[in-house]
Amino acid sequence: MSSDTTESRQRLFFALWPDAEVRAALEATGESLLGKRVKRIPAANLHLTLAFAGSVTSRVRRCLETAAGDIRQAPFDLTIDHGGHWQRPRIAWVGPTHTPPGLWSLVGDLRTAFESCGLQADTRPYQPHVTLARKISRLENATHINPVPWSIRSFSLVASVTDPRGARYERLVSWALEG
Ligand code: 2AM
Repeated sequence: MSSDTTESRQRLFFALWPDAEVRAALEATGESLLGKRVKRIPAANLHLTLAFAGSVTSRVRRCLETAAGDIRQAPFDLTIDHGGHWQRPRIAWVGPTHTPPGLWSLVGDLRTAFESCGLQADTRPYQPHVTLARKISRLENATHINPVPWSIRSFSLVASVTDPRGARYERLVSWALEG
């Protein structure tokens, strides 16, 4: 059997993965923004997507890993300081008001990597966000949140695995930002 059959495809994306402290702060933010009764994304799944590849073959995965390993980018700091609601995907999210140059640059490098691996890079403007809850029709509260400082020292390639209990994310490889 070829390694590029449908069975060997994986649904992949690059993301910033919070450490335990940032994860706990994002979790607390979700509770204060949405209340205890709204079903939120499990804390273990909270992340900020950099670039979404979708379902790819093992050959494309290898290409993406090589290209990601070639990215040279210095660490940077991010502050998650506002929240909101998007009507069409019906999600509640939090994100940075100010997108640091390092984040633009990392996303730009990943979009270039996608193209070099034969994938269509997202042409929509990048909107950094952490999804807190899905199937949300509206958000009553103000969008101001207690700022969550997040020091970005690495980025990860993540697989989205659907199991009967919902989406589960597996961090496959992480690369340190250096310089
Ligand atoms: P979302 O949180 O805005 O839904 C895993 O599914 C991650 O990839 C999520 O962060 C999700 O963003 C993002 N994602 C899923 N499908 C996507 C798509 N078609 N384009 C961009 N990002 C997507």
